[in-house]
Amino acid sequence: MRKIYVAGHKGLVGSAIVRKLKLKGYNNIIVRDHEDLDLSDQAQVNYFFEKERPEYVFLAAAKVGGILANSTYPADFIYQNLIIGTNIVHAGYKYGIKKLINLGSSCIYPRLSSQPMKEEALLSGYLEPTNEAYAVAKIAIIKLCHYYNEQYKTNFISLMPTNQYGPNDNFNMKTAHLLPMLVRRFHLAKLLNQENFDVIRSDLAKHTFGYAMPEECDNEVLEKLLNSVGAYKDHVEVWGDGSVYRELMHSDDLADACVYIMEKYDAKDIGELVNITSGEDIQLCELYEIIKEVVGFPGEIKYDRTKPNGMPRKLMDATKIRSLGWHPKILLYDGIKIFYESYVNE
Ligand SMILES: NC(=O)c1ccc[n+]([C@@H]2O[C@H](COP(=O)([O-])OP(=O)(O)OC[C@H]3O[C@@H](n4cnc5c(N)ncnc54)[C@H](OP(=O)(O)O)[C@@H]3O)[C@@H](O)[C@H]2O)c1
Repeated sequence: MRKIYVAGHKGLVGSAIVRKLKLKGYNNIIVRDHEDLDLSDQAQVNYFFEKERPEYVFLAAAKVGGILANSTYPADFIYQNLIIGTNIVHAGYKYGIKKLINLGSSCIYPRLSSQPMKEEALLSGYLEPTNEAYAVAKIAIIKLCHYYNEQYKTNFISLMPTNQYGPNDNFNMKTAHLLPMLVRRFHLAKLLNQENFDVIRSDLAKHTFGYAMPEECDNEVLEKLLNSVGAYKDHVEVWGDGSVYRELMHSDDLADACVYIMEKYDAKDIGELVNITSGEDIQLCELYEIIKEVVGFPGEIKYDRTKPNGMPRKLMDATKIRSLGWHPKILLYDGIKIFYESYVNE
């Protein structure tokens, strides 16, 4: 049985890859917690590879974050992601692994790429400044894989997934990505609407909130705290006018694509990188309506048009991944339903 190492197995993407591998009957999977193996430490990484000798490696460990974290700590983002990537790529070469699947991100493409963004758009223009440090590190690791393949005939493949959501997602209201942030906001608004303060308290105890809770937290103070993140008893506030488009993919679909590529393709067949995308996106105003329906919030959606919309579209081109015979299986509505249920019942 193939010996497979999943780096970042507790994260959103890594945990989905482990679930998918297990589902497919792989039972020789190696994982290590961050405390036991710091991937930014080259000696530890080399020791681990020498001892365990994995044959297949998924690189889903990274320092990730939203716009705020990226623009506040750019040095940490570039350093950590460069060093984790170089340590794993080099150890993969040194200890002769059979294949590496390196996870990148759509932010590697230039800010003004024509839509949908094709793989060839890499390094064809300026990056989005708010996450440039992260993107530069990701691009360097894609190129590292490319040049190791060229010089050492390794089999290192880089996949560029679209925005993910799924189990083990981050619901911190300061740092969460789009879908967990919205789902939690609508859920908290529903609980306010029901005046269900006990459940609100248990939600805040269960999931990191991100903002400091006042020591004396009666119902009135609690309501004000939730209002500050856009959850009101009669409405939910969202930024911009809802006109922009975004793509969302369930992490089980991404994991399916990662394992599919591991099983079926080599780097020499598919080139430097492959987008993992459905090639379809959704207008945010429509997404908000779906979330409102799934959560069962009876109030209104209010648009704060003084706040920025963000990029009008960030859609990746799906031609290449479709030509390799893969497409996502989880419809957005169904995915959001499963996601909400697991958030509430977790
Ligand atoms: N989430 C998305 O929407 C999305 C979209 C496109 C691409 N991706 C890519 O997919 C990859 C994984 O993202 P994710 O969302 O799954 O991130 P995540 O949930 O934050 O998981 C990252 C994992 O990496 C681990 N890690 C970080 N630094 C480490 C270190 N020095 N040593 C050992 N482990 C370390 C973290 O462990 P600790 O938490 O214990 O530190 C965590 O388990 C990233 O490359 C990202 O760019 C994600």
